[in-house]
Amino acid sequence: MSPRIALVTGANRGIGLETCRQLLAAGYRVVLTSRNSTKGQEAARKLEGTGSGIAFHQLDVDNPDSISALAEFVGSEFGRLDVLINNAAIHYDTGQRVIAPDFGIVEEAIATNLLGPWRMCAAFLPLMRKNRWGRIVNVSSGSGSLHSMGSETPAYGVAKAALNALTIKLAKAVARDGILVNAVCPGWVRTDMGGAGAPRSVSQGAASIMWAVELPDDGPTGGFFRDGKRVEW
Ligand SMILES: NC(=O)c1ccc[n+]([C@@H]2O[C@H](COP(=O)([O-])OP(=O)(O)OC[C@H]3O[C@@H](n4cnc5c(N)ncnc54)[C@H](OP(=O)(O)O)[C@@H]3O)[C@@H](O)[C@H]2O)c1
Repeated sequence: MSPRIALVTGANRGIGLETCRQLLAAGYRVVLTSRNSTKGQEAARKLEGTGSGIAFHQLDVDNPDSISALAEFVGSEFGRLDVLINNAAIHYDTGQRVIAPDFGIVEEAIATNLLGPWRMCAAFLPLMRKNRWGRIVNVSSGSGSLHSMGSETPAYGVAKAALNALTIKLAKAVARDGILVNAVCPGWVRTDMGGAGAPRSVSQGAASIMWAVELPDDGPTGGFFRDGKRVEW
């Protein structure tokens, strides 16, 4: 069987880059994407020569034209997409207060962290449905859990909670198409976003995502997980 094709957004650094590394090690052919072409090409070069091969393509998830160009590339180059990892995100807004936020930041967080994954799913689901097989991982966060939600990081938390809701809706919409859609929290990870004091490595964070990639066909869909264990909505 030819290798499965996996695409990762925001993959030039952090958890996205490490997820590409783990996908390659697991035998996937990887499309590494980055909004900055130079940074993305550099990242892809580091992973060249491993696994079933890596391709780079520019992607800004805020830009519908960029998403369309990527969908055309994947369609013509591979004719399929098996795994979509919506990883790109911004604005872990620890400095903001929900009662008086900068609404510019709120709008940007919603655009990148919610509308980005939503547009990506809309663009790539036709390709996945064609093969009647797929895995979509929406990289979420404990900050989006309504169950444990505090008042901090308002833009980020609200956008991730909405991403969780989108995950349920998408999962139900494609339940008969062999496509599993789950939200995954990577845990608190040492990256630019998580900071140097975070307890988890990028390797542990990406492993949490890989669990949802490698689910069996009768695995769960429409759930919220960390390290393969359910997280309260
Ligand atoms: N780190 C943690 O502790 C933690 C905890 C829970 C959840 N998460 C989630 O895990 C995922 C990865 O986080 P991380 O810690 O690896 O973050 P990170 O180090 O800040 O990396 C974020 C990535 O997203 C990209 N990105 C931002 N806006 C984009 C856009 N419009 N289009 C395309 N790419 C864009 C960035 O690209 P540039 O380099 O161009 O900025 C970068 O590659 C995120 O969804 C995050 O919310 C992280």
